[in-house]
Amino acid sequence: MPKNKDPEKPESINRGRRQFLKATGVAPLAATVAGAAVVEAQSGPAIVGPGEVPIELMVNGKRVALRVEPRVTLLNAIRNRADMTGNKRVCDRGACGACTMIVDGRTVYSCSTLAIEVQGKQIRTVDGLASAATLHPVQQAFCDTDGLMCGFCTPGFVMATVALLEKTPNPTVEQAKKGLDGNICRCGTFVRILEAALKAKGVARG
Ligand code: FES
Ligand code: FES
Repeated sequence: MPKNKDPEKPESINRGRRQFLKATGVAPLAATVAGAAVVEAQSGPAIVGPGEVPIELMVNGKRVALRVEPRVTLLNAIRNRADMTGNKRVCDRGACGACTMIVDGRTVYSCSTLAIEVQGKQIRTVDGLASAATLHPVQQAFCDTDGLMCGFCTPGFVMATVALLEKTPNPTVEQAKKGLDGNICRCGTFVRILEAALKAKGVARG
């Protein structure tokens, strides 16, 4: 006779549960469920990596072919593999906004976005804003208002401002503050950054 594994329960109760499971066919059901899981695993998304894999990104309107490990962030892929170093890596953990890029019209922290995830999307970085020797109006506004000190936060603020003005062309002060509240300037240049954001559309207020 099998040993009673649960000394707290009489053997008759343990035996009764086993017999019940057998009688109701749960054991075959469990086998079926396990089989389904295997099939699902076999037909699920293809596993990539951990080594480098080829990816293709659309950055500032140009196709960029790279080889990166799947764990590489959009920021590192663009800075280190595509040599576009405009956007800065500062906190590298989604806390400061210095790495802000625009992906399909929305701002993202590129330090917290995997490069492999944004294939097929339109990626815009600060490197693509100026045309030839002419600055983008937002970049020009930052220069005009002296909206920077060390400059590390500036590319992220510029991209956040571009996204803000594309969505809300004539923002109020409150709307501009809200649009830029995902970015931090450790030098404390917030007043001039806000002024630049408003000046870019000619709506700066005193
Ligand atoms: S570097 Fe990405 S949020 Fe700070
Ligand atoms: S200008 Fe230095 S962090 Fe913003």
